[in-house]
Amino acid sequence: YREQIPIDTGIDNTVKLLLEGYNYITNRRNQFGRDIFETRLLGGQKAICVAGKEAVNMFYDEKKLIRQGAAPKRLRQTLFGEHAIQTMDGESHRHRKELFMSLMTSERLDDIKTIMRKHLERASEKWVKQQEVVLFSEMCQLLTKVACEWAGVPLKENEWSKRANELEAMFDSAGALGGRHWKGRNARNFAESWLKGLVQDVRNNAIEVPQNTALYKMAWYQDKDGVLLHEQIVAVELLNILRPIAAIAVYITFGALALYEHPAEKEKLQTKPSVYFELFVQEVRRYYPFFPVLVARVRDDYLWNGHDFRKGNLVLLDIYGTNHHPDIWEHPDMFDPERFKDRDDNLYDFIPQGGGDYYRGHRCPGEWLTIELMKETMDFLINHVEYEVPKQDLRFSMRRFPSLPKSRFIIHHIRQKN
Ligand code: HEM
Repeated sequence: YREQIPIDTGIDNTVKLLLEGYNYITNRRNQFGRDIFETRLLGGQKAICVAGKEAVNMFYDEKKLIRQGAAPKRLRQTLFGEHAIQTMDGESHRHRKELFMSLMTSERLDDIKTIMRKHLERASEKWVKQQEVVLFSEMCQLLTKVACEWAGVPLKENEWSKRANELEAMFDSAGALGGRHWKGRNARNFAESWLKGLVQDVRNNAIEVPQNTALYKMAWYQDKDGVLLHEQIVAVELLNILRPIAAIAVYITFGALALYEHPAEKEKLQTKPSVYFELFVQEVRRYYPFFPVLVARVRDDYLWNGHDFRKGNLVLLDIYGTNHHPDIWEHPDMFDPERFKDRDDNLYDFIPQGGGDYYRGHRCPGEWLTIELMKETMDFLINHVEYEVPKQDLRFSMRRFPSLPKSRFIIHHIRQKN
């Protein structure tokens, strides 16, 4: 059967999307009583917005949707880079995805946890002497060091703070217009030329890099036709490792906020078995806003749930709304880590870092790494240091991408435990 789905009328609703932010799709879903509606976005293009488990299933069916030409140019100029894996489809995507997944072995995940712990310990020695620490900024800097060390990217002592600012500007400009957008674009240009130089050094044997690192593997990766990537594209893909590792600072900041707002949860983490860290971290990733939506394009006409999807239409998957969908989550707006206890895992209803299969689709290859570094840091904040949280503005906007507590989470009176 075919039917007319609800329409959010207007020639271009991009401004409404920016104004209502993470809630744009949820607000319409509530208004229309449906998980699907039509709108016009990004220069008046027809776009179908969907949410919920079935929708995730459809969104990750590669016979139906493609990514090429889907992400708006302003995102490619800041967040992803041009010709990045995010914009690829089919066999070439799978081949490149294999490269990313090959970095995520359990040995390499252990390595990054060890590196993280080392830098946390060093940082806390400095923190105890400071008046106060802005946790988000501190984590951006620290995670930049961790990311570079893990990825085999050499970083001079006088350079890391500049690189950290560049990585931050790239993910911070994702949903921005004006100044913040330009800051992100400039940062990307600087960082790409820096990494291009390093790729040349690796290829000319001017520097030696361990073979299991991202820098080495990406510099020598051959595409499905056996050709080395252009050094510019290697730089883009290296940034696809470094930038999102730095962005884990956002989740760590929200994690610290959750510890502060839910002292009972903090106590459980101190006293209950370590599996509680996993539950807690999953709930942080579900509850707090980070990626709002994903965008793809219809490959060829198809009918789904009564609606004709036409070749070239945009499809928006509501990430935040699916992670708060009342059919999937009981009391979705409550912070409750224990909801993840005895939960049957599946690839389609919990999607803070995308859904579907890692190897065949676009689901985030860094999801395990993110979870591990969050657990490591939460453990550190709970069991290895003590601190107080002074009065500050901890509210976070539902209109800013990415969202963050306004004060960036300030802590003071920091002491090392034991
Ligand atoms: C893709 C979220 C961390 C590397 C994605 C996607 C989301 C996401 C929503 C898109 C999925 C899709 O298009 O279907 C996040 C969040 C993170 C995070 C919220 C927390 C900080 C990481 C880390 C890495 C990483 C740590 C690498 C070490 C990537 C790459 C892609 C991706 C390369 C593109 C995959 C593809 O197109 O096949 N991520 N991510 N991300 N992420 Fe992450």
